[in-house]
Amino acid sequence: MLLRNVEIKHFCARLEECPNRPLPEIALSGRSNVGKSSLVNLLTGRKKLAYTSKEPGKTQVLTYYEVDESWYLVDMPGYGYAKVGAHERRRWANLARQYFHGRAQLAAVAQLLDIRVGATPDDKARLRALVGLGRPLCLVWTKADKIAPTKRDRTVGEHLARLDVSLPEDTAVVITSSLGRFGHDQLVAWMRDVLATREPSEPS
Ligand code: GTP
Ligand code: MG
Repeated sequence: MLLRNVEIKHFCARLEECPNRPLPEIALSGRSNVGKSSLVNLLTGRKKLAYTSKEPGKTQVLTYYEVDESWYLVDMPGYGYAKVGAHERRRWANLARQYFHGRAQLAAVAQLLDIRVGATPDDKARLRALVGLGRPLCLVWTKADKIAPTKRDRTVGEHLARLDVSLPEDTAVVITSSLGRFGHDQLVAWMRDVLATREPSEPS
């Protein structure tokens, strides 16, 4: 299962620049370099739809992908180490805070975590903020091609046991690899499920 019908892309450096249509949005959150933009390419089956880089700090604005003319997938600037100055990193952190707290259209968040690293202190801080929002959450363990197939579930289990963040019971967990091209079916299924079961009072 892929997100096939993705044509339009908007770049938003400030919250006021985000599209003002009342379509639901699912955001990709995570450390710079964790693989958010690569995941956009995996989910859409397109190699170069989203710009990726081996240098952390490539995505510098909220990047909106319109899916099926009915919702947006939103790639975000990362946090943590990046090849940019402190001022720019602060700007991204402010943008993310404003986005998470001020965006009524935000339907759910996929939080990416590197399966080789586990949750860093920055990841835990972001996760706690996301739990506080009360929106559906999916933990996406990225770069799983770097770990032997037989060790992936156990590794994620160990990371979860050490997480020290109390997650809602319905938090989804998906193991992905953009390089190995797996995990997209489960993640797209979660996204479609979240969008299908939203409260009618929320923007649609
Ligand atoms: P920023 O835009 O800087 O926040 O980073 P990002 O989270 O968008 O990461 P991006 O998708 O640009 O990927 C960062 C690096 O990780 C690139 O060199 C990718 O090729 C690599 N990468 C991403 N996903 C995978 C994966 O599943 N497996 C492996 N082995 N490498 C990956
Ligand atoms: Mg990126």
